[in-house]
Amino acid sequence: MNIAIASDHGGFQLKQELIAYYAQKDILLIDLGTYNTDSCDYPDIAKKMAETILSRRVDLGILICGTGIGISIAANRYHGIRAALLYNDYVAEMAKKHNNANILVFGGRTMNSNEVIHRIDIFMNNKFEGGRHDCRIKKIEERK
Ligand code: RB5
Repeated sequence: MNIAIASDHGGFQLKQELIAYYAQKDILLIDLGTYNTDSCDYPDIAKKMAETILSRRVDLGILICGTGIGISIAANRYHGIRAALLYNDYVAEMAKKHNNANILVFGGRTMNSNEVIHRIDIFMNNKFEGGRHDCRIKKIEERK
């Protein structure tokens, strides 16, 4: 599975921590930026990630801004993107089982790397349930 990661300046530190953690486990996260702590605009980061996911070059995205809110709103403007802000463990499970999210979103100023890694594990260890949830996702996709 190919995974891309991106953040604005508010999520930069957490992004770097996640890249380092997964590198230790021989999992290479594809870093789409930002590459330093200079102020930047989260809609630009969300666009880059959305385009990368929609091109099918990667299977899953991780997006981070200060709270996770702005970058979620921006990413979900792209048709075919299902960006889920994983603000707790239960939501991490449901984001896979019910929503089949293709971007996981976190807050660099509201979450620490331990809880974020735990939620990524939960998401990865669950399966999309399909059925009625697939119908609901298709209804979202129909509204172009
Ligand atoms: C940037 O200061 C901050 O507004 C941004 O990272 C994010 O939290 C917006 O929702």
